[in-house]
Amino acid sequence: MADPKQQQRDAFRAADPAGGPLTTDQGVVVDHTDDSLRAGDRGPTLMEDFHFREKITRFDHERIPERVVHARGAGAYGYFEPYASCAEFTKAAFLQDPSVRTPVFVRFSTVQGPRGSADTVRDVRGFATKFYTSEGNYDLVGNNFPVFFIQDGIKFPDFVHAVKPEPHNEIPTGASAHDTLWDFVSLQPETLHTIMWLMSDRAIPRSYRMMQGFGVHTFRFVNAEGRGTFVKFHWKPKLGVHSLVWDEAQETQGRDPDFNRRDLWDTIEAGDFPEWELGVQLVPEEDEHSFDFDLLDATKIIPEELVPVRPIGRMVLDRNPDNFFAETEQVAFHTANVVPGIDFTNDPLLQARNFSYLDTQLIRLGGPNFAQIPINRPVAPVRTNQRDGYHQGKIHRGTNYSPNSLGGGCPAVATGDPAAYRHLMERVDGAKVRRRSPSFDDHYTQPALFWHSMADWEKRHIVDAFRFELGKVAAKEVRARTVEQLALVDHELATAVAEGIGVTPPQQRADTPRPTPSPALSIANNQADTP
Ligand code: HEM
Repeated sequence: MADPKQQQRDAFRAADPAGGPLTTDQGVVVDHTDDSLRAGDRGPTLMEDFHFREKITRFDHERIPERVVHARGAGAYGYFEPYASCAEFTKAAFLQDPSVRTPVFVRFSTVQGPRGSADTVRDVRGFATKFYTSEGNYDLVGNNFPVFFIQDGIKFPDFVHAVKPEPHNEIPTGASAHDTLWDFVSLQPETLHTIMWLMSDRAIPRSYRMMQGFGVHTFRFVNAEGRGTFVKFHWKPKLGVHSLVWDEAQETQGRDPDFNRRDLWDTIEAGDFPEWELGVQLVPEEDEHSFDFDLLDATKIIPEELVPVRPIGRMVLDRNPDNFFAETEQVAFHTANVVPGIDFTNDPLLQARNFSYLDTQLIRLGGPNFAQIPINRPVAPVRTNQRDGYHQGKIHRGTNYSPNSLGGGCPAVATGDPAAYRHLMERVDGAKVRRRSPSFDDHYTQPALFWHSMADWEKRHIVDAFRFELGKVAAKEVRARTVEQLALVDHELATAVAEGIGVTPPQQRADTPRPTPSPALSIANNQADTP
């Protein structure tokens, strides 16, 4: 039997009958669609040809704005099932019963390029999952790197402006190599950890099916007793992590710009369903301050040797969408779409995201009713006092306010009802400040840990990538400043990069952080297969 999301889709499909004669949007049968109505054989086209006007008008309005980031993507449906109950840590219904499959839709994406750009560019990949749970939609909006470029969402517009093509000529596109990005990187050392990942083979996945995913932020699980536990989410692909090498990636861009998208589609069509395991790193609330980094800092990982990843379930993608626009393009993920048992932390990047996604979707999807679009529609019942707005698809009846003694209106359930979402009652106080805790300023220890966890051939690829990308930067001072920053990560790395791009190699500094290589970073070199 089809899962609840598929049943919902089937109902929408039934409302769009295939076959039968062509009609207008008003249901009037059309006799001719190839020639417009004209006055005489050689006369002007007549305004009264309503079918002509409707056909052209509808075509003129087929496009909507692409996503400001992550514009290019590919999606698929599937299901998630937990291995065992996670009740000890979370009351989230979809993490309780191994016999219950929750329908999901996943969209993979590149970040920087526009909708029509190539798949196999050097870039971060989005890995966004919508779980259609019995308690409402839960979105895990992650990437294929466990860290992010900035620590506070207020910098996101600056970062994205630096990453995107330059404003005057919209060059370059599809690659990350240009002066503005490296100018930003050299002036914002908090970017360095993610830049190390970006220069590694992780930034050129061979397939979406062979890519890890990370929630990046520290989130919170909350159990039925109201106890919170910090949690980091990890997706591990059953096929292992595999990358293209740079030359392969470049050639692939020319031969097949849809390489990753096609691979996902074809394998699902062939019944070779991709699978990921969901794992969690759990940190009890009382251990919040036991690390030398801050759990609220999205530029840091929790090393797996300190907190191992526990597998809690698996996800299989087994159906392609019917319509790219209706489903993959109109899907709207939002970090604030959470269900009871999953909560936020005060990570300033996460808090900004919790504002940004709904805000951008209000314009991208044409107003406030986009949760009614089939791909976004929960399978859980929706009863709100929200009304009207562009593209209202429901015929609401009765009054629409609460409290309400006249009938209609939806009351909130009593506080304490286990079905209701209740925010974790975290104590928060403090003066208004714009600073963060001091460990946010350590921008070098974890990039160094990443570098030292690499095999020699992986290091070579990283150096080659830095040389290729920085070698394209025209501003000599930007190249030099970036090398100075790399010298604070590792002298050998900085020297190797400097020698390839005509910059004087840096002096060895006595205080360069040099952590010992750590197996904890197995997430960094896990199963990579490209020598
Ligand atoms: C889109 C991930 C940081 C704003 C996306 C998507 C992903 C993603 C996967 C594509 C969703 C889809 O497939 O439709 C992340 C991760 C971040 C991060 C993992 C950091 C940990 C931010 C920040 C902001 C932001 C800090 C803004 C303050 C956006 C916007 C979109 C987007 C506006 C387009 C959404 C849409 O049009 O539907 N992000 N992002 N992101 N992200 Fe982020």
